[in-house]
Amino acid sequence: MTIVLDARDLSKSFGDVTAVDTVTLSVKKGALFGLLGPNGSGKTTMIKMLTGQIRPSRGSATVLGFDVTQDPVGVRTRVGIIPEQETPPSFLTAMEYLHFVAAVRKIQDIESKADWWFDFLDFADKKNVLCKDLSRGTRQKLMFTQAFIHEPALALIDEPLINFDPIMQDLVKEYLVGYVKKDRTIFISTHILEVAEEICSDFAILHKGRVLHNGPVADLTGRNEHLTSFFLSLVRKDRDA
Ligand SMILES: Nc1ncnc2c1ncn2[C@@H]1O[C@H](COP(=O)(O)OP(=O)(O)OP(=O)(O)O)[C@@H](O)[C@H]1O
Ligand SMILES: [Mg+2]
Repeated sequence: MTIVLDARDLSKSFGDVTAVDTVTLSVKKGALFGLLGPNGSGKTTMIKMLTGQIRPSRGSATVLGFDVTQDPVGVRTRVGIIPEQETPPSFLTAMEYLHFVAAVRKIQDIESKADWWFDFLDFADKKNVLCKDLSRGTRQKLMFTQAFIHEPALALIDEPLINFDPIMQDLVKEYLVGYVKKDRTIFISTHILEVAEEICSDFAILHKGRVLHNGPVADLTGRNEHLTSFFLSLVRKDRDA
């Protein structure tokens, strides 16, 4: 079993707020891993540390074998990332943005790859439209495209389905499930527990920066338990403790 993401006692404080508190978790190659947790539980902060966007206060993590503190650029150049609430630059067209991504990521044949994505996510008619004039969902399609167009071994996505309509959600879910079947790995954070239960192989629940639970989704379904009720009872118990 190959581990592609390994966090050890990872912590992040902002002044006197401890956003992530000694989190230890690992993700195996081929997993579709869901990081779940209430608002403010530290999911986005975890993803930012794991993608080399912010430095951990304590602890360590390796992603695809690269240390997030020692070599954040090594991590960033290899993974696909969709940060929370990120939108493409307003002053570029959709196609210009993908050319920009291709230059940074040294992607060959960007025109044909981009055309495949414009077709797949059904926004070919927006190819030459400035990003500022795209709808929110279409901007998310473009963010999705930039994260996957280089077929990274690992993609980290903060809320993959946000802003997508039901048809697009269905397409994207199917894409994510298919993606990990080819021995690639996906790490998502999400509030949509039904979706996590449907597509994730493994999950962790964060609350107040700490891991309350970490394990395979099949362990729950094997006990006939639903992720939503499991999540609610665990988080409420911890909140009231
Ligand atoms: N740059 C920052 N400065 C100060 N506090 C921060 C900063 N970033 C995050 N925090 C705090 O860290 C905690 C965790 O925030 P984070 O954004 O990681 O939560 P989250 O689980 O992603 O929440 P949500 O579900 O609402 O997206 C919160 O208390 C938040 O206010
Ligand atoms: Mg968040």
